[in-house]
Amino acid sequence: MTIAIIGGSGLSQLPELKVTDKIIVDTPWSKSPASIITGELNKTNIVFLPRHGDSHTIPPHKINYRANIWALKKIGVKKIISVNSVGGITKLMNPNSIIVPNQVIDYTYGRGNTFYEEELENVKHIDFTMPYSETLRNQLIEAARVIKLKIHKKGVYGVTQGPRLETAAEISKLEKDGCNVVGMTGMPEAALAKELEVDYACCGLVVNWAAGKDSETITMDIIEKNLKNGLKDIKQLIYEVVKNPY
Ligand code: HPA
Repeated sequence: MTIAIIGGSGLSQLPELKVTDKIIVDTPWSKSPASIITGELNKTNIVFLPRHGDSHTIPPHKINYRANIWALKKIGVKKIISVNSVGGITKLMNPNSIIVPNQVIDYTYGRGNTFYEEELENVKHIDFTMPYSETLRNQLIEAARVIKLKIHKKGVYGVTQGPRLETAAEISKLEKDGCNVVGMTGMPEAALAKELEVDYACCGLVVNWAAGKDSETITMDIIEKNLKNGLKDIKQLIYEVVKNPY
């Protein structure tokens, strides 16, 4: 079982997954153990972890990112594909687009964002120049080509604290910083995976125009409608990527 999918908003379940087990993993990072689903998808054994919980009740700033990544590492996961819903900032990032970002900017705070905190023999700094695994990103890009799904092959994912959406001025600032999309769950997940040397790539589904990028107010209705549409493509992409190791 080497590949894990971390499901984001709207992806608390993978209906096509033939569930074989639910694994409860104790970690040093949480009182309650992380629960992880294992199963078969397209004849490949995979692990599925819904980041917001089975019934989508854990908000982005309350997710125990350390426990999740630690648990995946502990059961032998070598690759993580993370699905994140995001808002579109730059021109081409309209709702229903899919992006496999190659860079991230972290605007979050107060989240447990490292495993290197206590009882250290020495201070450790990981290289995070390239936050995502290029190998895994290329597998996603190749899978998209095979199924003829148009995706954005790179871009910058700005990760905000949430749970509120941003102000228009905040989005202008993110745009000036170079962000193409904005979401709330991409960090510290990517950095924690890197700390534990697990390959990690993100698959971002644009579910709304970011604040101030459209005249409409951002409503949960808009987000949910776009999620429903876009997740069909995301699922196709996941099914393809797990089918072939490339
Ligand atoms: N901002 C932050 N996170 C998000 C958004 C957004 O506009 N859409 C989906 N997740």
